[in-house]
Amino acid sequence: MSLTGVATSTRAAYTVGRVEDVPPGEGRAFVAGNVQVAVFRLRDGSLHATQAACPHAGGPLADGQTDLDVLVCPLHLYAYRWSDGGSSAGLRAVRTYPVRDVDGDLVVDV
Ligand code: FES
Repeated sequence: MSLTGVATSTRAAYTVGRVEDVPPGEGRAFVAGNVQVAVFRLRDGSLHATQAACPHAGGPLADGQTDLDVLVCPLHLYAYRWSDGGSSAGLRAVRTYPVRDVDGDLVVDV
């Protein structure tokens, strides 16, 4: 659910839900504007957002396993780094988006 789209220079900020909508260590799919995103809350409390569909073959990244360094797609188990979205297997990188906690709201810039 997007509530507002606030344009910045090349991105728009969308409130997609509440931080508590994403259990620690898991991901959830949301729509930010017209962009499907996957938002993750890692066990250290950090937030990350990626495109919802895996760039390899469209797997649902929100259902992937995570640790503090990588996201693992549930379909073929390829891993993508949080740091830059890159794949250790040399696949096309996953698109990442800035995400932040604003008074408990999840705000994603797409
Ligand atoms: S669809 Fe994600 S690794 Fe293949």
